[in-house]
Amino acid sequence: MSEVAGTGESTLKRTLGPFSLVTLGIGAIIGAGLFVRTAAAIAERSGPSVTLAFLVAGLGCAFAGLCYAEFASMIPIAGSAYTYSYATMGELVAWIIGWDLCLEYAVGAATVAIAWSEYFNKVLEYVGMHVPYEWCHSPLESANGVHGIVNIPAIAILALLSALLIRGMQESATVNSIIVVTKVAIVLMVIVIGWGFINPSYHTPYIPPSGFYTTSEGITHPYGGIMGILGAAGVVFFAFIGFDAVSTAAQEAKNPKRDMPIGILGSLVVCTILYVLFSHVLSGLAPVDFFRNAGKEASVTEAIRTYMPGYGWMAKFVTIAILAGFSSVILVMLMGQSRVFYSMSHDGLVPKIFSEVHPKFKTPWKANMLFFLFTSAFAGFLPESIVGEMTSIGTLFAFILVCAGVWIMRVRRPEIPRAFIVPALPLVATLGIFVCGAMIYGLGWTNWLRLGVWLVIGLVFYFGYGMKHSRLQSHPAEAGR
Ligand code: ALA
Repeated sequence: MSEVAGTGESTLKRTLGPFSLVTLGIGAIIGAGLFVRTAAAIAERSGPSVTLAFLVAGLGCAFAGLCYAEFASMIPIAGSAYTYSYATMGELVAWIIGWDLCLEYAVGAATVAIAWSEYFNKVLEYVGMHVPYEWCHSPLESANGVHGIVNIPAIAILALLSALLIRGMQESATVNSIIVVTKVAIVLMVIVIGWGFINPSYHTPYIPPSGFYTTSEGITHPYGGIMGILGAAGVVFFAFIGFDAVSTAAQEAKNPKRDMPIGILGSLVVCTILYVLFSHVLSGLAPVDFFRNAGKEASVTEAIRTYMPGYGWMAKFVTIAILAGFSSVILVMLMGQSRVFYSMSHDGLVPKIFSEVHPKFKTPWKANMLFFLFTSAFAGFLPESIVGEMTSIGTLFAFILVCAGVWIMRVRRPEIPRAFIVPALPLVATLGIFVCGAMIYGLGWTNWLRLGVWLVIGLVFYFGYGMKHSRLQSHPAEAGR
């Protein structure tokens, strides 16, 4: 495991304090999961019981988050779960996690970019324009006989934000702070004003009876009952992804040992409370059928416009603020992705190009450019439901490995100082593994298959490249450090 320390061209700037880290966390957390995936979970999985799904997902994140916090306080260097697992479970498992994290960060960024495209089209509608259906949808989607070709707005936002990241962290964090305030403000506004428009009949029954629902892409999921809630938890779990991205910024934190746990757990608690309240309001504003049809895209704006008469201004404001909010999420995810590969590159598992730092901006600019190409391929040519659920399942899998890893580390290396210690570790780690495993189960076989294929491709890369070039090969004495 490598730590880039000291001076020289490979050093990242240490500029982030605890407040910046919590805002970085919230910046990464509130996004498409809340404003887009919630409606999909209501429509396809759980109806109003999506609130319970948020609680399940939040619980799983809390357990995994505690484990993350201990790791982050112990190994304050860039790299997220990848770095932690390298220290505990060796190169192969670390590779699997690092590869898996591409699903979380890069495919996650692609998902939010697709959501951005939906809301962007709403903004255009306000000024009498729109992007034609075929140029803002993937080839796997169609409506009224028109097939999608490529999602241009999604690619455009990825290009813009990749360029901002290349310019540097300081500027990105400042822009992010402004956006976070706006984002929290709109969530509160929808909760407070929307509460008065809840129609109790849409909340009855709160947990729909068990059955099935087939999506427009032809995939059948359990709907209602316990399986509906577990599936929905897997879907809205997306809304929590990002609190761990804080840990990838450890190398840019001023005081990582103290500030990492504050950043991770603080942002998680704030978001869970907001999500449960928000989803209770959203599912009470409109019937489930609305989220399956007219309100399928840009659902929050559509629900306000249709079911909150007199609040058209709010729909407009929310749409614009959501666009800004999504941008901050994409930014943090792209940053997290390049940081993970930065560490992997130092360990020799991926080519050196991923750790080349720009001489002036001090950012891993070549990695940023390559990930722009990668995320664009997903955002441009796949539907949001597929990339969103791939992101969820990949992250859940990584969380399970993190829960196991912190436990293994406690047994094998109890002497390493830890600024934050998980209370009742075996219990917390076991519950984390159990709850995240239940969500993976709920996501269903199509997602298991995608995860399996992704991991197999990763193993081919590992045995074809990573294993031969790794530092373990060239510096065996460093093994396990
Ligand atoms: N949690 C982030 C979102 O919901 C990924 O957009």
